[in-house]
Amino acid sequence: MTQTPPLSFVHRFEPGSDPTRPPILLLHGTGGDENDLLPLGRLIAPGSALLSPRGQVLERGMPRFFRRLSEGVFDEDDIRRRAGELADFIVEARKAYRLAAPIAVGFSNGANIAAAVLLLRPEALDGAVLLRAMAPFRDPSKVDLTGKPVLLISGASDPIAPAETVARLVAALSGAGAAVRREILPSGHQLTEMDVALAKDWLARL
Ligand code: MLT
Repeated sequence: MTQTPPLSFVHRFEPGSDPTRPPILLLHGTGGDENDLLPLGRLIAPGSALLSPRGQVLERGMPRFFRRLSEGVFDEDDIRRRAGELADFIVEARKAYRLAAPIAVGFSNGANIAAAVLLLRPEALDGAVLLRAMAPFRDPSKVDLTGKPVLLISGASDPIAPAETVARLVAALSGAGAAVRREILPSGHQLTEMDVALAKDWLARL
């Protein structure tokens, strides 16, 4: 394993083996950590450098990327602050590891913070794979995401990310000009092999 410099987030970094592939920013779900999504990253983005930070908020001991007031009710001021901190970390890590702007691959809470970074600091990311994402803001501010590629995969029977909030997120991203591909799988909140196949195929075409 590569020695990681002390940046502002605890993280893991795996260098890429193919310089033509974009770096991937892996963002875990509630209760995960920087180790969680590395196997997924290796599977869906062969050859890419992998950068995987740990969320800095603790909810009953479980790491997350921002505070929530209850299930599905977000502290939007905290999301703004934490999205800014994550975008600053991306800048630091890009300098430390000499990386291009990454594509985020986020699951659940990690997908929600990735969506918030896109909406607040769009220059930080070159695109995103949002797995089981929700709209982070009730009323997102105007942003220009022209041409930014986003793959959004939701589960038709996901009790945590209902269709209404996913639709609002799709509208916010598409309305800002992002090139959104939306897929709805016959699944709940957990990831399936179809998520892996779709994400791998989508990333390979970038
Ligand atoms: C969130 O809080 O970001 C969403 O409810 C997803 C999750 O359970 O982490």
